[in-house]
Amino acid sequence: MTMKLFVPAFFIVGLISLGACTPEKLPPSDEALESKADALAEQKIEEGKKIYESNCAGCHDSGVSGAPKPGDKEAWRERIALGAASMVKKSLEGYAGKTGVMPPKGGNDTLTDQEVTNAVDFMTLKVK
Ligand code: HEC
Repeated sequence: MTMKLFVPAFFIVGLISLGACTPEKLPPSDEALESKADALAEQKIEEGKKIYESNCAGCHDSGVSGAPKPGDKEAWRERIALGAASMVKKSLEGYAGKTGVMPPKGGNDTLTDQEVTNAVDFMTLKVK
C-alpha cells in the first residue's frame, strides 16, 4: 500500500522539478523582430533588383522618355512625395506622364504584382 502511494507521489514531484528546469519560452525581443524585418526588406529589395535589371533597366537606366533613374533624387522627389502606393499603382497599371509612357508592369505581363512592387522598392530605396 505504501509503495502504491509513494510511486505516484515521486513521479509528480519529478514532473514538477522537470518543469522548473525547462527554460521559459520568452517572446522574441524587439531587436530580434527588427532585424528580422530588416532582413525581409533587404531580401525583397535584392529580388527587386533582379526584376529591375531584366525588365525595367532598359528604359530606367538610360532615362529614356524621362523614365526616372534609380538614385536620381530630383526625378523621384515628387513621385516619392505621392507615396509608395501611387508609384506601385502606376507601375502595375501603366500611365502616360509628362514626358513619356510607362507600360503596365514595364511591358512584362508575366511579372507578379509583388515582383513589380519589389522592383519599385529597389528603384526608390536609393533616393529615400
Ligand atoms: C518602355 C520603357 C519603360 C520600361 C520597360 C519601364 N518603364 Fe517605368 N517608366 C517609364 C517612363 C517613360 C516613365 C516616366 C513617365 C512620366 O512620368 O512621364 C516611367 C515611370 C516609372 C515610375 C514612376 C511612377 C510615378 O509614380 O511617377 C515607376 C515607379 C516605374 N516607372 C517603375 C517601373 C518598373 C518597376 C519597371 C519594370 C517592371 C518599369 N518601370 C519599366 C518607362 C519604362
